[in-house]
Amino acid sequence: MSGDKDKFKFIGDALSKRRSNLKYRELKSVQPEFGTPYVIKEGKKLINFCSNDYLGLCSHPKVIERSVEFTKKYGAGSGASRLVSGSLNIHQELEQKLARTFGAEAALVFNSGFQANTTLLSTLADRHSLIIMDKKCHNSLIQGAILSRAVMKRYNHNDLSDLEELLNENQEKGFNRIWVVTETIFSMDGDRSDLSEIASLCSKYGALLYSDDAHAMGVLGEIGLGLNYGMAGVDLSLGTFGKAFGGFGAFVACSSEMKDYLINFCPGFIYTTALPPSVIGAIDAALELIPQLETERALLMAYVFKVKEELIQMGYDPGKSESQIIPVIIGSEKETLELSEFLEESGIFASAIRPPTIEEGASRIRLTITAHHSEVDINKLIDVFWRWKNR
Ligand SMILES: Cc1ncc(COP(=O)(O)O)c(C=O)c1O
Repeated sequence: MSGDKDKFKFIGDALSKRRSNLKYRELKSVQPEFGTPYVIKEGKKLINFCSNDYLGLCSHPKVIERSVEFTKKYGAGSGASRLVSGSLNIHQELEQKLARTFGAEAALVFNSGFQANTTLLSTLADRHSLIIMDKKCHNSLIQGAILSRAVMKRYNHNDLSDLEELLNENQEKGFNRIWVVTETIFSMDGDRSDLSEIASLCSKYGALLYSDDAHAMGVLGEIGLGLNYGMAGVDLSLGTFGKAFGGFGAFVACSSEMKDYLINFCPGFIYTTALPPSVIGAIDAALELIPQLETERALLMAYVFKVKEELIQMGYDPGKSESQIIPVIIGSEKETLELSEFLEESGIFASAIRPPTIEEGASRIRLTITAHHSEVDINKLIDVFWRWKNR
């Protein structure tokens, strides 16, 4: 080390590498137009096709009202972690309501989906365990597995023979437990796992099943309760409140004993300030609304069908998407960025997803369709893609 300046060389080097291979990321500041799917970006009005607020609950009057009501009654913060004095009645009531709604023995709220996945896996597995995870699982699940120090093996995306082979060949290797980890709807591809088949494999090989339902909850499954709902054999179901719930936070639905275990041993639950009343209020109202939003879900799925059909007609590849997440797979990073710029110039806000978030050569525009969009918004999206195609 020759001088102070050299201490930070690794930062500059990594950033210039990112810039030179078109992988550099920047924060984009936008101003939402309240109650609409529009945002103002650098003075220009854009239709937001990259929000996870799938049902528009973020600005629903009942959600806002209860959030404000809880803030006025209980304050802006919870004041402490749950095991100290931050476990307010409203946290416990929400957990009871979640367990009842999702038909689980118990539910436990976490501060975010990322935090939950990172801390849960590292609490539920240790260096003597094996975690078998789908290759397309979210980064938070990967971080959780790394932190657990368990042996981690990845099976090819949605390839259940690969999963079975791994389960089979690791049966007699002395692991104290085997966790299989999947998502129900994969976040970058919008495709679906065969959860009931995965659950049968877990039962055949005595493995535990962890299923992240972040993108299905509120949108898919019976009365929008997600794809883990009613599925036998899911030992831990993870839901998030930052997507269709329109708020922030996460929860697990599990057995009462597992909940007690997590309260006693899970660092990401124990050592953090409890979610504030405003957030609990918003989630509480969203939870009441979600089962009633069948019309919104039907509208959303009709939009999804239309957009996918049109993209296919244009010759684009929306992969195996079966949800409101539609990847428009372009391949090259350069062309994806150019398309993203064209979309923005044409009034569409949609994010370009590039490696390392997804695999090399699979750069894409990731569209998310919401029930908040209008027919006019959807037609505009389709029209802009056609214009790019025929440019
Ligand atoms: C599958 C999946 N799990 C968990 C998360 C993290 O959830 P949160 O945004 O609540 O931290 C995400 C968010 O992108 C996700 O896609």
